[in-house]
Parts: sequence; C-alpha cells; structure tokens
Amino acid sequence: MERRQFRAPRGVRDVLPEEIPAWRFLEDTARALARLRGYREIRPALLEEVELFTRSVGEVTDIVQKEMFTLQKGESALALRPEGTAGIVRAYLEAGYASSAPLQRLFHVGPMFRYERPQKGRERMFTQFDVEVLGSLDPRLDAEVIQLAASFFEALGITGLEVRVNSMGDGDDRERWREAVRAFLAPTMDEHCEDCRRRFERNVLRVLDCKNPRCKELNQGAPGILAFLSDENRAHFEQAQALLVSSGRRVVVDPSIVRGLDYYTRTVFEIHAPALGARSALCGGGRYDHLVAELGGPELGAVGFAVGFTPTLIVLRELGLLEAVSDEPTRVFVVAAGDGLESEVFRLAEELRAGSIAAVYDVERRSLKAQMKLAGKGGHRFAVLLGGDELARGTVQLKDLANGEQHELARGELLARLSAAGG
Ligand code: HAM
Repeated sequence: MERRQFRAPRGVRDVLPEEIPAWRFLEDTARALARLRGYREIRPALLEEVELFTRSVGEVTDIVQKEMFTLQKGESALALRPEGTAGIVRAYLEAGYASSAPLQRLFHVGPMFRYERPQKGRERMFTQFDVEVLGSLDPRLDAEVIQLAASFFEALGITGLEVRVNSMGDGDDRERWREAVRAFLAPTMDEHCEDCRRRFERNVLRVLDCKNPRCKELNQGAPGILAFLSDENRAHFEQAQALLVSSGRRVVVDPSIVRGLDYYTRTVFEIHAPALGARSALCGGGRYDHLVAELGGPELGAVGFAVGFTPTLIVLRELGLLEAVSDEPTRVFVVAAGDGLESEVFRLAEELRAGSIAAVYDVERRSLKAQMKLAGKGGHRFAVLLGGDELARGTVQLKDLANGEQHELARGELLARLSAAGG
C-alpha cells in the first residue's frame, strides 16, 4: 500500500512548541484580566446539539446555514461549536445558576469551528477568548465588558484599535427598523445575490451583513436603527457610552454594525484593527437579553464578547510585539563527563526534577565538548557535570553558564545550591 504523509485539514493547524510562548502570552493575559474583575473560568462542551445553535445563533445566518461542522451519530444531530455563547448559556441553565446564583461573570478560552473560506485572519478551527456576564440588564456591564476587551489588547501592547459601538434595539423599535430596512431594500432585491433574496424573505436584517461587494453597495444608505430606538433603549445605550467615555475610552458609534448572529439586543460592539483590511474585527460582542429565555430559562439580561486569537496574533506579529516573548529555558543541563555514565546522568536528572529543578541531558552520547555546546545553545542557566572521579567522590561540578564559573560540590548539596541560585 502506498504510504502518504498526512496534512492537517484545510483551515486547521497545529500550534507548535515554537509558537506556544505567544499563545501563553494571550491566554495568561486573558486569564489575569478576567480574574481581576471577578470572572470565573468555565470550560463548556465542544459538542452540542445542532438545534442549540439553530435556536440561538439563528436559522438564517451564515454560521448555521453554511459553516457548522455537523455529525450525525445514532439519533443525535451534533455540531462542533461554531461559537461559545450558546454553549455557555446552555451550561449556565443546566447547572441551575439561573435560580441559585443568577449573576455570573464567566470566561472561556478554547477552540471553535467554522467551515469558512480560509483567508488572512480566518481559519476553520480557531481559538476565542470568550467573556459572558449573565443575569443583569445594567448598562455598567456593557461598559465593563467593552473595557475588558479593549484592555486585553492594550495589555498585549496593541494600540490604534477602534472600538465601534451600536445598538440593535429590542422589541418594537427593532420591528419598526426591520420594516424600514425591508422597504428600503425591496426595490433593489432583484440585483442582490441569491442568498440575500432568501434572507430578505426569512430574516431581512441578515441582508445587511452580506459580504458580497455588489450587495454591500446596494445596502449603502439603508436606514440605521438609531433613529428608531425607544427612549428606554436610547438611554441605556447612552449610559453605557457615557461610562466608557468617563473612563477615558474612546468609542465610535457605527450604525453599520449589525453582527452576524441573531441573538443580539441593544448594545453591540466590535474592535477593529484597520490595518487588517476588510475582515478587520479582532473582537465582537454585545447584549443578548432574550437568549436565556429562548433556551428555556427565565428572562434575564446578558452581555459578552469573543476575541479571535488568529487575527490578534497577526496584529501582534505585524507590530513586532512577539519578538520579546519567549519560553523559559530548562535550568540545568546534566553533562556526562566520561563514558559509561548514561545511567548515572539519568538518575541525577531525576533527582533534580524530584527537587523541582528543570533538568535535561543528552541522549546521543555526544562528546563532552559537544554536550557543553548544546547546554550553552539551549539557554540553560547551569551545566552539572558528572565524571568518573566525581562519581567516586560523591560530588559534581557545577558550572554557571552565565559567567563561566565552575566549582565542585558534594552531590547532597546540589539541590539546595540550585534552589538558592534562583533565576
Ligand atoms: P463573532 O463575531 O462571530 O462573535 O466572533 C468573534 C471573533 O472571533 C471575531 O471578531 C474574530 O476575531 C474571531 N473569529 C470569528 N470567526 C473566525 C475564524 N473563522 N477564524 C478566526 N477567528 C475568527 C461570536 O462568536 C460571539 N459568540 C461573540 C459574543 C460573545 N457575543 C456575545 N458574547
């Protein structure tokens, strides 16, 4: 049988050890900022019922119609999660939080799956930092999550991003806006793409986020929602903005933000890196005040966002901000200074590890000189040399690779000396 080498599926890639420091930089920053604000980590399921997404993201959305990786097993129609919000709400309800402790500040970092055309910043398996606050309508939370998202990028060193906000309204004002959009689009519907003609019949607002250039042109000048907002929804939107401005956050009201998922109500926002071009959103989110009820829970407010790691890493790389990010090297390289010491070197390395000192050794029986070269190249702080004489005396040679100093010490003192030497 012909042997072939496999490749990861299109749009799916591995994170290799060389890239892990950059990923940990993102993950650690996300966790630290979320914890500082009292958010607790949740790790929802990767697989959910397809219907969970149809009900929450919406039947007539690209995510549900075109992008879900689905699998049929027995009676169950399952999907790899294309986004995190629906699963978190499902988990929240299943855990009984809605009655036991309705206000939950939650965050999650993990992979999502969408069958999209791979392009710059877009993959089929990608990681999101997802933040969700469930259980309140308070506009302070809209401002809080926007601040959290923006400070995530700032903590990474990214500046020059644009925070764009809009309101999607709710209830009656949404209905009046929808009718106005329908009336605006009707005369040119024949010129729109086939998808849009379908959207027009079933979910007219989705026409507004079509990516097709001709449709985008035809959508120019469509009525924005802001003129239709009720006094209550307008006040809510203005309060959230006022809080942001008083915290020194610059935001731009962008009535063209409609988001690609159906669950949104009231405040929505995106954070863009203009340098990324057309698909420049690093982060998107907003309120979804009816989703909990839609999924069988009580009516209660909720707001959140998700940051994509893929576009964030592109921006970090372009700005040169990943160069200083590196892995801690292993501290000690154990060197065999003579033949026949392989087992002794193994045992010494294990002794150090048992004492919480990171240690490695050469497995290719290289010469002493070659081992010392490896130790130096690998960025290790110390070389511990073990030769026949040392073995007989119960000692080792400790070499500080930073300044080249070397001295002999009793093997029993080695751990204490290395621990005391710190970084
Ligand atoms: P979304 O706008 O679909 O929202 O995705 C959020 C972010 O995930 C995007 O701004 C982008 O950075 C990243 N992203 C999306 N698709 C891809 C892809 N194919 N490859 C790489 N990155 C991607 C949501 O997912 C909502 N669940 C956000 C939310 C949470 N709203 C409320 N709570």
